[in-house]
Amino acid sequence: MPAMRLDKLLSEATVFTRSKLKQMIKSGRVTVNGAVITSPEHKLEPENARVCVDGAPVEYSRFHYFMLNKPAGLLSATDDRKQKTVIDLFPPELRPRLFPVGRLDKDTIGLLLVTDDGDFAHRVISPRSEIVKTYRAVTAEPVNDGDISAFSRGIVLADGTKCLPAGLEKCPDGSCLVHVMEGKYHQVKRMLASRGKPVIELKRLQIGGLKLDETLAEGEFRQLIEDELCSVIKK
Ligand code: URA
Repeated sequence: MPAMRLDKLLSEATVFTRSKLKQMIKSGRVTVNGAVITSPEHKLEPENARVCVDGAPVEYSRFHYFMLNKPAGLLSATDDRKQKTVIDLFPPELRPRLFPVGRLDKDTIGLLLVTDDGDFAHRVISPRSEIVKTYRAVTAEPVNDGDISAFSRGIVLADGTKCLPAGLEKCPDGSCLVHVMEGKYHQVKRMLASRGKPVIELKRLQIGGLKLDETLAEGEFRQLIEDELCSVIKK
């Protein structure tokens, strides 16, 4: 990896803005290989430098992986001329490279991965990877055993599109859990609508082995730790 500026490395590895990082560096809070560095322009090679902020090591990796608790009202897109997107929630330094992994509808909330790693995103989205995405749906009427067996056989949508077999579970509060391996347009809503159960609220809870961190308020995000990243693609 080529040499890069200290403030650039920190802006890619943390969620602080570049101006905040400059202040932090100038005030002596950042060390490189044990030495305090007060120059934001200081050049280093990421693979040979142990960078710490306030004594805590900073993990630098080429790619970024975030878990976002998506709020309602934002588009799952990188930019839009009229409407706010999920990428607008991220620091300006990171925005140009980040994109959401797949889409949640504007009114769907919950777990959305955001990254700059195209191969990872492709793997998570592809039905061939057989990564199960779990949603909690509140429907106008509770689902029944007939719905559960129809889901397990594979729902045929109103336009004739055939869905892969999917899991459906009744929850004690009248909502249901839906487990799907694909991400067709409005898939969960259309599957439930095909059974006469229109969706009123939809929240994604899990992708593969990765559960939404419920301590994140809607609109908050955090970086994934390595084990969590692996759990996304582990079946
Ligand atoms: N299925 C839907 O219908 N909507 C979403 O946002 C995600 C899955």
